[in-house]
Amino acid sequence: MPRARRSRFLQSALFLFQVPCTESYVEASFDCSHSQSDVDQLLKGYSDSHRREGRQKDRMLLSLRGNRSSFIETGTNHAKTLMSVLSAEQFDHVFSVEYSPMLHRLASRTVLQHAETLPRYKQPNQRVHLYLGDSGKVITTMLSDAAATSNGPAGAVCWLDAHYSHKDTAGNDQKEPPLMLELRAVLTDQFWREHVVIIDDLRMWTGRPTNDHQIYPRPSRVHQETCNLWKDARFRVSNDAMIIWPSAAAKGNQYGATVRR
Ligand SMILES: C[S@@+](CC[C@H](N)C(=O)[O-])C[C@H]1O[C@@H](n2cnc3c(N)ncnc32)[C@H](O)[C@@H]1O
Repeated sequence: MPRARRSRFLQSALFLFQVPCTESYVEASFDCSHSQSDVDQLLKGYSDSHRREGRQKDRMLLSLRGNRSSFIETGTNHAKTLMSVLSAEQFDHVFSVEYSPMLHRLASRTVLQHAETLPRYKQPNQRVHLYLGDSGKVITTMLSDAAATSNGPAGAVCWLDAHYSHKDTAGNDQKEPPLMLELRAVLTDQFWREHVVIIDDLRMWTGRPTNDHQIYPRPSRVHQETCNLWKDARFRVSNDAMIIWPSAAAKGNQYGATVRR
């Protein structure tokens, strides 16, 4: 590797197993000047030991809000994250999609009951939007609904977390989780500059079949696909998740976020 590139590579490798900075770990950061093999190298050894408990992830999600008005989630499951996000009352609108009709029904009941107790979401049907369907298809509807419902900044924190996950979850009929479709939809959305993407469960994205026979694309494929569309994308790996945002965005916080032009 040429010396300049090696030094850039080492600089960005704030890497694995280092001291936690307060409540979250920054395990790697890189951008589109890095190659796919750089990314593979940086994330080599990313495994179950990087699993994080939910509360740490919830705090991270909320810290990404900046001036974004919506939270978009794929894979509602039992609405664990959704309930925390609602309780924080930070977002004007909250969107989530689930593929399993049974989970969608259960989560809708729990979430809507909880929302009624919160001042910001007292009329939950207007601010809390729960969809049943395949997130790879429904995400474009969620993005356009998010833009249509926001009065100010149209940006969204997009938590991409739909995949088969044992027990009562859906998706085992899909060879690959819908991540690449979801990602493309966010990257090409009309308000793309205002969004931040978080891909959960990074330890599972190995490009090899998992126990449940789904194949999760490697982070380097996600990096390549993103850089084809967002030339200025920045990436950070933290808390078993990959955060992606366009650096051209005006600075709402360290992860960008702009106001509607
Ligand atoms: C890991 S769980 C989600 C956890 C949840 N996001 C949270 O943070 O509490 C993954 C969920 O994705 C759902 N799922 C799988 N494939 C899907 C698809 N194509 N579209 C929407 N949901 C899907 C599963 O049924 C499962 O409930």
